[in-house]
Amino acid sequence: MPTGKLKPIASILRQAKEIVVFSGAGLSADSGIPTFRDGATGLWNKVDPDEVASIDGFQRNPRTVWHWLLQLKNLVDERCPNAGHQAIARLEQIRPGNQLTVITQNIDGYHTRAGNEHVFEIHGTIHRVRCHRHCGFVATWEQNASEPFPCPHCGAPVRPDLVLFGEMLNEEVFAAAQVRSLTADVFFCVGTSFTVQPAALLPVWAQRAGATVVEVNPHPTPFSDVADYSVRSGASQFFDALCAELEESKR
Ligand code: APR
Repeated sequence: MPTGKLKPIASILRQAKEIVVFSGAGLSADSGIPTFRDGATGLWNKVDPDEVASIDGFQRNPRTVWHWLLQLKNLVDERCPNAGHQAIARLEQIRPGNQLTVITQNIDGYHTRAGNEHVFEIHGTIHRVRCHRHCGFVATWEQNASEPFPCPHCGAPVRPDLVLFGEMLNEEVFAAAQVRSLTADVFFCVGTSFTVQPAALLPVWAQRAGATVVEVNPHPTPFSDVADYSVRSGASQFFDALCAELEESKR
């Protein structure tokens, strides 16, 4: 990992009050969860997202979407947060005076399991199901729920509580994430290809509002030339090294 950028980033962080970590699938790669678009292993290079992860696909064949997401949930339940998630949670402890907010596109719940308290899951979560008609029914996605079932309150279909392609994000959650982005002093973008809107607007808004934007990704992205710092590194290596640098300077 290029260490030349570590010290200036750590120094900016020491002055920061509001920190945002905006994460994508690349952060969970070290947990063994495939990303969506990475080369041969990318999930969308193996299966058509319109068939298995879109609202049209769900309305055409709910069982196909349910089963594909259930196998992803089973993988997420078998694996666990990695050193990158743990270092981001440690960042919250090292800088107690800061407000550290995680805004994640990921649905695996790993940030919360690693210990971060302020997490906005703007694409929802694979650990819950809800009434498709938004009647109010929400429940944990139990292992025994191997087939789609009707809402016990209103009879409409029950579906995973995540954002399928073709759906709008939860307005309240996204608005709160937008406010955090506009007040951020430092905005980390880790493990994302900036492919999906409106999530990919958040770092742009943050930078326009004055945040220092730091991208952490082993590969270049469309945002690499826009970020204030673009670090060619895996998430675990970078955030582990950043925490070590911050803890070193506290001694
Ligand atoms: N550390 C950091 N970044 C990594 C790592 C790693 N160890 N491994 C891979 N990456 C990077 C890849 O270079 C790529 O830029 O993570 C990024 C993953 O990109 P995508 O697979 O497109 O995932 P993401 O950006 O989260 O996708 C956004 O698209 O499919 C929808 O809703 C889904 O939330 C998802 C959204």
